[in-house]
Amino acid sequence: MKVLLTGSKGMLAKEFVSECCNRKDYTIIAPEEEECNITDISSIRNAVNRINPQALINCAAYTDVDACEVNQEKAFNVNGEGVKNLAQVCEENDILLVHFSTDFVFDGKKESPYTEKDKPNPINIYGESKLLGEQYMLNSHARFFLIRTSWMYGKRGNNFVKAVINKAVDQFEVRVVDDQVGNPTWTRNIVDISLRLLETEQYGIYNYSNEGDCSWHEFACEIIRILQNLENKFHSTRIIPIKSVQLKRAAKRPTYSALSKSKIKTATGIEIPHWKDSLKFFLEEENKL
Ligand SMILES: NC(=O)c1ccc[n+]([C@@H]2O[C@H](COP(=O)([O-])OP(=O)(O)OC[C@H]3O[C@@H](n4cnc5c(N)ncnc54)[C@H](OP(=O)(O)O)[C@@H]3O)[C@@H](O)[C@H]2O)c1
Repeated sequence: MKVLLTGSKGMLAKEFVSECCNRKDYTIIAPEEEECNITDISSIRNAVNRINPQALINCAAYTDVDACEVNQEKAFNVNGEGVKNLAQVCEENDILLVHFSTDFVFDGKKESPYTEKDKPNPINIYGESKLLGEQYMLNSHARFFLIRTSWMYGKRGNNFVKAVINKAVDQFEVRVVDDQVGNPTWTRNIVDISLRLLETEQYGIYNYSNEGDCSWHEFACEIIRILQNLENKFHSTRIIPIKSVQLKRAAKRPTYSALSKSKIKTATGIEIPHWKDSLKFFLEEENKL
């Protein structure tokens, strides 16, 4: 399958490129933003005409959650209008569209995992802008997979795992919030399940994250615990629990945003790894380099 990938410099996009290099059944073409800017429909049309893909995987987004509060126009333009443009071009050319959204479309007031049927109610601009993109997709006539995911980390790009490690290198104490609960997700697992989903032709909206809930504090403790075992370092690092209000961040975050994965498990037959197992694989792989 020939795939056009947008947002090629991002964390998830780079995982798609590296995974598809190893798979004969996918040819992935990942132009830079200058050659495929999702906020410019003619730029998307030109890329589609040049590449003639069967599927378009959209990893382009404005993902700086706090900056979205300040740059609201950019947030709605990239995360909302950009997705509308993609859906329109995919519909015109009968291209399958794969797009990613977020647990941050929910307000966090539920006490059990959010299903695809739960009503979104974002509490920050990033979530609102991502919801706008979802709505454009749901109203389009393109064939699509809309995959909501959460708390992503991977080899490339800035993410929580790297941030904790970088802090632990310099500081004996790392402060992490313990009043937000969700599901960590390794980019490798998202890529695997997305490619499997593509084969199903069961289009629609799906949740995907690793199994198991935790707070950011528990997540940080596990990162350090694994590294202590692997590298015999960070033995004096302490992860100190704090509350979200102490961070004084621009954007509010949902206190609970775990995702139910029943639908994607049924559609793909894939058993989803627990977040602790994926984290261990990831850190072991990084450690070998
Ligand atoms: N990271 C997470 O924890 C997380 C959680 C849930 C869902 N998601 C979703 O997963 C998807 C991938 O996230 P990610 O973390 O891989 O994002 P990322 O690393 O921030 O990558 C997004 C890429 O899109 C590019 N981009 C921005 N505007 C663009 C435009 N108009 N046209 C083309 N490219 C553009 C960005 O370039 P610049 O950096 O130069 O702006 C960046 O390279 C996103 O839809 C995100 O909302 C992420």
